[in-house]
Amino acid sequence: MAYRSDAVHVRAPGKINVYLGVGHPHDDGYHSLATVFQAVSLFEDVYAYPSDDFSLEVTGDVDVSDVPTDDRNLAMRAAKMLAQATGVDAGVHLVIRKGVPVAGGMGGGSADAAAALVACDALWGTDVGSRGLHELAARLGADVPFTLHGGTAIGAGRGDELTPALARGRFDWVLVTSDQGLSTPEIYRSLDRLRGFGDAVAEDPPLSLDVPVGVLQALRAGDAHELAPVMHNDLERAAVLDRPDLELALADGVRLGALSGIVSGSGPTIAFLCADPEAARALQQELRATGREALHVHGPVHGAQLML
Ligand code: C5P
Repeated sequence: MAYRSDAVHVRAPGKINVYLGVGHPHDDGYHSLATVFQAVSLFEDVYAYPSDDFSLEVTGDVDVSDVPTDDRNLAMRAAKMLAQATGVDAGVHLVIRKGVPVAGGMGGGSADAAAALVACDALWGTDVGSRGLHELAARLGADVPFTLHGGTAIGAGRGDELTPALARGRFDWVLVTSDQGLSTPEIYRSLDRLRGFGDAVAEDPPLSLDVPVGVLQALRAGDAHELAPVMHNDLERAAVLDRPDLELALADGVRLGALSGIVSGSGPTIAFLCADPEAARALQQELRATGREALHVHGPVHGAQLML
C-alpha cells in the first residue's frame, strides 16, 4: 500500500509486563495492579489523513482479520474522544499498520489508541499537551498511558498510574506468538475464579500488591541474569488453563537457551528473556526449528512518536 504524503505518521510500541501482580476485582470490573511494563521494538504504525468524517482501515504483517474498523476499534474511539474534548470540527481517515500480534497480550490495540491520539493532535493542531494526552489515554484503556510514554515504567491502579523505572542498557527478548488470541477480560475473570473470588469480594483479605524490589534492582542494573528469576505474571496460570500448550512452549524456550520465560500480559504471547542479542538470535532459530513463530525484539524503546 502507498502511504500519501499528506499523512501524519505516528509509531507506537508493543509492551511486555516484566512483572504483573493482580489484586482484587473492583465494581467496574477492573483489578488493582502492581506491574512493570517494558516497551519493546515491535511497532504499530498509524497514519492519519485529513477527512471530513471518521473512517479506519487496518493492514499489517500479522493476521488483522479480527480487528474491527468501527467504534469498537480503540484508535477510532481515541480520535473521536480527542475531537469531542477539543471541540474540533474535523474528521480523520486512519490507516493502522499492525506489527504487534492481535489479542496477544502485548497491548497492540492500546498502542493504536496512543498513536491515534498523538497523530490526530498533530493533524488538527489541537495541541492538548502531554497531560491532556495522558488524561485521554487513561480514559481509553489501562495500557494506553504506558504506550504513550514507553520506556520501562511501574504501573499502579488499573495500570495507568505510571512511574518511570530506571532501566540501564538493553534487554533482549524472543517472543513466541500464537495464531489464536486470548480475551483479556476472560483471562482476568478466570483468575478470579481460580482464586475463589465470589461476589463478596470486599470481604476477601487484601492481596499484597507491590513490585518486588529485586525486579527494580535488576532493571536498574541492566542485568538480564538478575531479572530472569524474578519475572512473574499472576495471569499466567489463567492463560495456561485456557491454553495448556503454552506450558510446553515455556518449557521449550528455557530448554533451548532462554534465561526465563513469561506469558506476556493476558497472553498468549510468550516472552523469553535472553542473555544478549546473540543468545536471542540463536533461540529464535531454535524455536523456529520447532515450528513456532518467534520474533527477536529488544527493550526498552520509546513510546508513541511522530515520524517526520
Ligand atoms: O483497559 P483495557 O481495555 O486494556 O482492559 C481490558 C480488560 O482487561 C478490561 O475490560 C478488564 O476486564 C481487564 N482489566 C482488569 N484490570 C486492569 C486492566 C484490565 O480487569 N487493571
